[in-house]
Amino acid sequence: MKLCFIGTGYVGLVSGTVLSDLGHEVVCYDKDPCKIESLNKGICPIYEPGLEEIIKRNYNIRLSFTNDLKKALENAKAVFIAVNTPEAEDGNADLSFVYQALDNITQVYKEGTIIIKSTVPPKTCSKVKEYLSKFNVNLNVISNPEFLKEGHAIKDFIAPERIVIGAENEDSKNIANEIYKPLINRGHKILLTDTTTAEMIKYASNSFLAIKVGFINEISNLCEIVGANVEDLSYGIGLDSRIGEKFLKVGPGFGGSCFPKDIMALSYLAENYGDPLLLVKTVIQSNNARIERMVQKILNVFGGSIKGRTLSALGLAYKAKTDDVRSSPAIAILKRLKELGASIKAFDPKAMQKAESVLPEVKYCHSIEDAIKDTECIVILTEWEEFKNFDYEYYKDTVKGKVIIDLRNILNKNSLNSYKYISLGRS
Ligand code: UGA
Repeated sequence: MKLCFIGTGYVGLVSGTVLSDLGHEVVCYDKDPCKIESLNKGICPIYEPGLEEIIKRNYNIRLSFTNDLKKALENAKAVFIAVNTPEAEDGNADLSFVYQALDNITQVYKEGTIIIKSTVPPKTCSKVKEYLSKFNVNLNVISNPEFLKEGHAIKDFIAPERIVIGAENEDSKNIANEIYKPLINRGHKILLTDTTTAEMIKYASNSFLAIKVGFINEISNLCEIVGANVEDLSYGIGLDSRIGEKFLKVGPGFGGSCFPKDIMALSYLAENYGDPLLLVKTVIQSNNARIERMVQKILNVFGGSIKGRTLSALGLAYKAKTDDVRSSPAIAILKRLKELGASIKAFDPKAMQKAESVLPEVKYCHSIEDAIKDTECIVILTEWEEFKNFDYEYYKDTVKGKVIIDLRNILNKNSLNSYKYISLGRS
């Protein structure tokens, strides 16, 4: 089946590429000619483990990239909209790219199926359907939210825990079933519901997970006060299958392009309906406060002032296995430390290029060794394996101040004899 993807960001590129690998003919369109040129040269614009390999395997066989919308849409059985839905100034989701895409598509694509993969607020598909009725087109509208985690996106797509489809008629259901047949045949669950419920499932999932992370972060604060161990606690509560072990890892706060934006949009929506989601609202506040708390933790090491001190920052991405720095707690913390007068030497295995544009005033280093050299304190901000496995003892003489603040709890205290080790939720 020929499928067209509009937008080659994380969602569009991963979904399109994997669907081509599953046997569909996929054309990925992006309005940015540079992105398309790079992709056609075999350069992947994002770091996602395994993605480049699958692109290579399918390129010019079942997968192509183009800047020519008409060509992309020709004979497409379905068109996936996978464009950005950033946070608008008021906290709502900004759907202008979705509507721009629809305006352009409907110029040439008159009959078929539109599948909204971008994260959009409930009722968007109904509104889109209404919007399309103004044009002379016959298009079904399906909601198909994605549940990919950056860094695990390929696995998440190939082996999904659920495929959620919001469809309003039999035609739409049949198309969705056909697209996902290779995965359904392997036993993966497809949930068919109406479009508004599908849209809500996406927002509710991200909000629930964000609340879980926010919860363990707050509990870790109390663990520090009462002298409990948050790692044992996470394990202990996670053994209860009603709670589950996942998303209970303490850290500097949740970030990325999804949680902060999506929970804000859901909260805005509920507020607008006059029925605020108090839990969601509170987790936004709690996560924002976390940044200042982490900064305070670092300041405490220096008696309250870090003016003129040199710190080493290990990690810039909002989590490991990605080069994404959008709403990264690492970036927010480092910005605050800069404002407070610290000098920073930073290293991240993948995210330095993207970090440079949002955080130009730090010294970017080529290795961990270089980043920790002559610094007074090492701060771990992202849970990369490289930071976990690094031999800090071996390099102890090159580090001026023997302090490690581990904001991801990834190191083993017992192997750090020469350092003062500070972590989260452990006294
Ligand atoms: C999230 C969801 O997990 C995906 O299901 C969803 O498809 C995606 O958003 C989206 O809406 O597109 P992602 O943003 O890639 O995926 O990252 P997560 O792995 O969910 O992590 C989000 C944030 O929570 C990160 O900052 C991470 O460090 C933090 N986190 C996560 C913790 O601090 N502790 C945890 O135990 C888990």
